[in-house]
Amino acid sequence: MKTALVTGAAGFIGSSIAEKLLKDGFRVIGIDSFTNFYSKKIKQKNLEFCKKNKNFSLIQKEIQKIDFIPLFKKTDYLFHMAAQPGVRTSWGNNFEKYSINNILVTQRLLEQAKISKSLKKIVIASSSSVYGNQNGKMNEDKTKTKPVSPYGVSKLAAEHLVKAYVENFNLPVIMLRYFTVYGPKQRPDMAIMKFVIKSILKRPITIYGDGTQKRDFTFIDDIVNATISSINVSKPGEIINIGGGEVISIRKVISILENISEYKPKILYKPFSNGDVLRTEADISKAKKLLGFKPKTSLRDGLYLEYEYVQRNKNLYKLSRKL
Ligand SMILES: NC(=O)c1ccc[n+]([C@@H]2O[C@H](COP(=O)([O-])OP(=O)(O)OC[C@H]3O[C@@H](n4cnc5c(N)ncnc54)[C@H](O)[C@@H]3O)[C@@H](O)[C@H]2O)c1
Repeated sequence: MKTALVTGAAGFIGSSIAEKLLKDGFRVIGIDSFTNFYSKKIKQKNLEFCKKNKNFSLIQKEIQKIDFIPLFKKTDYLFHMAAQPGVRTSWGNNFEKYSINNILVTQRLLEQAKISKSLKKIVIASSSSVYGNQNGKMNEDKTKTKPVSPYGVSKLAAEHLVKAYVENFNLPVIMLRYFTVYGPKQRPDMAIMKFVIKSILKRPITIYGDGTQKRDFTFIDDIVNATISSINVSKPGEIINIGGGEVISIRKVISILENISEYKPKILYKPFSNGDVLRTEADISKAKKLLGFKPKTSLRDGLYLEYEYVQRNKNLYKLSRKL
């Protein structure tokens, strides 16, 4: 039985990866400090499936306080999903959290991984936000990275750290640049989750900007499958985009949701947020070539699944009139 260590295991993506690894017959050690970025109750619910499985164990601690040397001895694969996410919240004094949880923590892991003899692969979550504002498809090797938010800068810094460790110690690391991930368990600060909650509450929806900004939305199951299959990529330091293949405007998302919820919300417009980009579009030809990646879930189907998830777990999202 292979052992996988998943950091950020109580988060949206980490818990989904841990769940699939358990279903695939891995032993999983989850690590999460339950940061207060969003409700602990939501994170506990994210782990509900994993906690029932005898092959799952959880270390509830900050990564920077953990001695990984003994842990890595029994680990085959490391999936590093822990981070401080969120573009809009990355300005000002908050940047300290981004520096620690996205840059320092990555360095601590790499430093201890470099002396491990048992780690076969390390998969690290990066983000489309490293590209900033670009026209056309974003390509891992041809498109210049120019992040426009402190969050994007912190993710790019982590990528550069990885490159330095790969160059010097030949660490077997793969970096995945995820494009706007959505689906059941999505973080409550993300636009789609906010829209879903407001639709169920029958409340107005707030849009930052005019709603024509577009995103390459990627369904969580497609992210999970791509992430797990990346353990078979052989070249250390490879960077791979993972995108859903549909570039859709925020207004269009709301109109699909109107159809699902049978509710037409009032739209409130607020100024475009600093750090947000106008559009993202992943070139996924490398993911196709190296991972056999083909996104399977359409935005309509994925939105429906997220809507259903929130309906089933209303209590978690404070679905009261006060929200
Ligand atoms: N969700 C997206 O659309 C998206 C897009 C691109 C990249 N990413 C990246 O994917 C990864 C997962 O994102 P997510 O949306 O699941 O976020 P999330 O906030 O739901 O999960 C991250 C988890 O990491 C934990 N964590 C943070 N710092 C920690 C520390 N120092 N020690 C231990 N645990 C810590 C948090 O408690 C949280 O549960 C992140 O690296 C993020 O930057 C996400």
